[in-house]
Amino acid sequence: MPLDTYQRPLRDLRISVTDRCNFRCTYCMPLDEYDWLGKQEILTFEEIVRLATIFVQLGVEKIRLTGGEPLVRKELEKLVSQLSPLPGLKELCLTTNGSLLAEKASALSAAGLRRVSVSLDTLNPEKFRAMTQRGNLDKVLEGLFAAKHYKLQPIKINAVIERGVNDDDILDLVDFSRKNGFGIRFIEYMDVGNSNGWLSEKVVSKAEILSRITSHYGLRETGRQSGSAPSVDYQIIDGAGDIGVIASVTEPFCSSCTRARLTADGKFVTCLFSAGGHGLSDEQVRDVISAVWRAKTDR
Ligand code: 5AD
Ligand code: SF4
Repeated sequence: MPLDTYQRPLRDLRISVTDRCNFRCTYCMPLDEYDWLGKQEILTFEEIVRLATIFVQLGVEKIRLTGGEPLVRKELEKLVSQLSPLPGLKELCLTTNGSLLAEKASALSAAGLRRVSVSLDTLNPEKFRAMTQRGNLDKVLEGLFAAKHYKLQPIKINAVIERGVNDDDILDLVDFSRKNGFGIRFIEYMDVGNSNGWLSEKVVSKAEILSRITSHYGLRETGRQSGSAPSVDYQIIDGAGDIGVIASVTEPFCSSCTRARLTADGKFVTCLFSAGGHGLSDEQVRDVISAVWRAKTDR
């Protein structure tokens, strides 16, 4: 088990299975077109499984599949079915925009996927359209309920809150989630360096998100699910409701981070790792991953 320079173990791996997305959320992919990776540049399922196996041997317990939008990658369930039985892997989750989930939930569940997190920033159809630039709210809701039907649980909704855009949707989202048994995580709007026009004034802080909720509901803080969890969680005092806030801007949690990312073209980030894979034995790849993680200084 490698430890980085601050003694953080590598526990969670996010694997990006594609850089493409069928939405253009204004805070994430504001432009109409992007220069996508070519087919030959993205990792094959065989390469992903090989690397994931090594990561798990090194102590990774949780793998999250992400994108872009992971479900635009064809036959993602085939990858899931190869990852889910890895010995030592405790959690296999998917973060999705939900648009293709209604079609895919059954196959994903059969392949051994445990849980999904679905991005949903508003329940207003026109606003949803405007925020995603191409999304259809009904399809996403259909996807959420399909995930529930196939028990891809606990299901979490991720909502990025942007001032003047959807800060008035916070309570609606809480009520919707409570009513349907979904957890909800509110995320502070981040500057992700993608010309999304980020301004600090547009950030709705954790404190402000909480005060909007406590104007209606009593909340009891239950803390972080684990020392390295990005979200601080709350329960509504009388009644159901699993709420969390990810305060990436006002309370950054980098110092306890145990996550790393594998990009769609095989780079190992927090640092660079051109997986190339070719010509390296599993042993050598293991050493490279350990060395990169041990040397990590990002905080
Ligand atoms: N700020 C905060 N979260 C973001 N995401 C993407 N862009 C941003 C941003 N600018 C996150 C959201 C979304 C997921 C796919 O990525 O949580 O649901
Ligand atoms: Fe980004 Fe997710 Fe929106 Fe796609 S759906 S543009 S990946 S936030």
